[in-house]
Amino acid sequence: MQNILVTGGTGFIGSHTCAELLKSGYNVVIMDNLSNSKKAVCDRIEKITGKSVKFYEADICDYDATCQIFSENKIDAVIHFAGLKAVGESVQKPIEYYSNNITGTLVLLKVMREYNCKKIVFSSSATVYGMNNKAPYTEDMPTSATNPYGYTKVIIEQILRDICVSDETFGAVALRYFNPIGADKSGLIGENPNGIPNNLVPYIAQVAQGKLKELRVFGDDYDTPDGTGVRDYIHVSDLAAGHVCALKYSENNDGFEAVNLGTGNGSSVLEVVSAYEKACGKEIPKKITQRRAGDIDTSFANAEKAKKLFGWEAKLTLDDMCLDSWNFTKLNPNGIE
Ligand code: NAD
Ligand code: WQD
Repeated sequence: MQNILVTGGTGFIGSHTCAELLKSGYNVVIMDNLSNSKKAVCDRIEKITGKSVKFYEADICDYDATCQIFSENKIDAVIHFAGLKAVGESVQKPIEYYSNNITGTLVLLKVMREYNCKKIVFSSSATVYGMNNKAPYTEDMPTSATNPYGYTKVIIEQILRDICVSDETFGAVALRYFNPIGADKSGLIGENPNGIPNNLVPYIAQVAQGKLKELRVFGDDYDTPDGTGVRDYIHVSDLAAGHVCALKYSENNDGFEAVNLGTGNGSSVLEVVSAYEKACGKEIPKKITQRRAGDIDTSFANAEKAKKLFGWEAKLTLDDMCLDSWNFTKLNPNGIE
């Protein structure tokens, strides 16, 4: 049975992917420094799957700790989620973002080389399409960024490309996620943000709970059907399944591939609000405010490459995403503690 190291495995997307890996017959070793998640997530993954995970509280920037994991386990492949991800915070703390995300990835890649581990699936982001491309985004479009967080994704993709050139037996898949939301059907794992959420659905969830007064809709004068921003929301469980498909693909293929994981459809802020209202049976109070700096009008994937390479496509609807988000929120009113 193959052993997969999942960095950032107690986080939002990592935890769902660990559950999917275990269900698909892989052994899972999680490495997380718990900077944005809780160890209790491991128990919940075990509860969902009936299988056990091995957990290391360790930082990917820590070379010795990373070596120890590789020496104690024969790691066949890595799925690399660990990273800081708040766009606004990255503008305030560029050194922390570059150092955690890029130095951490370099340490991980160096240790992988030392232990002859040659397969990696990396969490990239649709943010690499920057401001100058027009949706639907295809993987051959030029990449760019507008903030330090986005640059860490652009740079790490380039590092992976370069490693694949230097070693033709190395395989790297950079998965460009669109807007992951929702939660596992069980309601045991889900998104667990610290403080006031930045992202739309976690914010709406807290308005529905009564923790926040109202949603601020950032602009209704975009060039979109209802004037509000359009994004490609994807259920985190579909995304998790996409990682298992990418892993299987990388078992038989070397070289670098960047692949979008999205549904191929866009929804507006107001459409998301309506779907959430239906899911929770309450009205979500909202007011239109000015645009948020750095936002674009429309982002959605061309999802053909994932279908062609992996045979993967998203199946769950926006209604499913909102129902599962609300189910998780109700069952865990203060997140996972
Ligand atoms: P998350 O914060 O829930 O998970 C990331 C995990 O990594 C956390 O558990 C955190 O504790 C851990 N971590 C951070 N730095 C670490 C380090 N130096 N060493 C060990 N562990 C560390 O975030 P998520 O939403 O699950 O995102 C996972 C990945 O996907 C990130 O790389 C993120 O940039 C990327 N991504 C997320 C989204 C999104 O909207 N959620 C979209 C595109 C890409
Ligand atoms: C979605 C829509 C907002 C909050 C971000 C990152 C991206 C990726 C995913 C990591 C937009 C509107 C939001 C609110 C609102 N993450 N909105 N009121 O900006 O598409 O993507 O997360 O890689 O890199 O930038 O997601 O959920 O913040 O916003 O009106 O309180 O909701 O303007 O149109 P975004 P989001």
